[in-house]
Amino acid sequence: MFIKTNRNGFSHGVSSEITDRCVYEGRRDLIKLLATGVAGAAMTSWASREALAQTAGQTLKPGKLAPLAGGKSNLAGAVTMEKVTDYKDASSYNNFYEFGTDKSDPAKNAHALKTSPWTVEIEGLVKKPGKYGLEDLLKLSAQEERIYRMRCVEGWSMVIPWVGYSLSELIKKVEPLGSAKYVEFVTQLDPKAMRFVDSPVLDWPYVEGLRMDEAMNPLTLLTFGMYGEVLPNQSGAPVRLVVPWKYGFKSGKSIVKIRFTDKQPLTAWNKAAGNEYGFFSNVNPNVDHPRWSQATERRIGEDGLFAKKRKTLMFNGYEAQVGQLYAGMDLKKFF
Ligand code: MTE
Repeated sequence: MFIKTNRNGFSHGVSSEITDRCVYEGRRDLIKLLATGVAGAAMTSWASREALAQTAGQTLKPGKLAPLAGGKSNLAGAVTMEKVTDYKDASSYNNFYEFGTDKSDPAKNAHALKTSPWTVEIEGLVKKPGKYGLEDLLKLSAQEERIYRMRCVEGWSMVIPWVGYSLSELIKKVEPLGSAKYVEFVTQLDPKAMRFVDSPVLDWPYVEGLRMDEAMNPLTLLTFGMYGEVLPNQSGAPVRLVVPWKYGFKSGKSIVKIRFTDKQPLTAWNKAAGNEYGFFSNVNPNVDHPRWSQATERRIGEDGLFAKKRKTLMFNGYEAQVGQLYAGMDLKKFF
């Protein structure tokens, strides 16, 4: 196991279920270090992370597809050798509107969220509906660490080591009916803990959705941790989605319901401003947001006075893995 108590002192009751199957050698070494505590109980220093990343880099060409353990070759390229964002930034610069709209609000306010016990209800067009406890979900498949590039619709990006397993593992277990074409994700609505949900900015609860083939793509990660620890509340504890080729808002946090449906779900942002936030929301430097360009991005942690913006990559750099899902589609229309 390598997921540890997070900085707020919270750990999942069954953290031992989280195994150390890792996506490539360097990371595996890192995980071993974390598991033995050698890399530091309160989280390793980035010096050692970086050293390991460099070691791994000797066998991997930067930016090149990384070999993966376990023969999951369809995930090749899912890892990146780019510098990982500092944990401090990733856990203090967040969007989680239920806790406030300022980037620093979630880290200040999300401690009020009760994340245990937690159940996720599976419903709709599926053979095995029911309430699945967090423990059941954690046990369902081995966890992996995957370092994904994340790109927010607002024009900033981060590189984050997530911990989880492909959502497809869960979907296969619950056996959707042939008529299920979409998956809807409903997230927690707890007005006592989430003080901002009395604001009309969104229609709560926060809802997201994917087409079935997007949900089944192995890149789509059901996520329980980051940086080798359980998710901090502001990052979507205890379970969230991570869809790295789409703008960040598609990655719903603190999920309580997964519904299989034959209709395209009406998502929270789609409802609020459908002309600005489409259902697909694939990262696409060629399709601008109506109010700003999407051609470049600011990498969090690189924002010195002379820091250059980065060019945004098609499908956030995951075109080889997901481009075929949209073959023949007009991405300007289906944005
Ligand atoms: N999930 C919920 N429940 N509520 C939210 O406000 N914000 C989304 C997404 N998931 C949001 C959410 C947006 S806009 C982004 S960019 C990402 O979470 C941010 O995730 P991060 O804080 O891990 O970077």
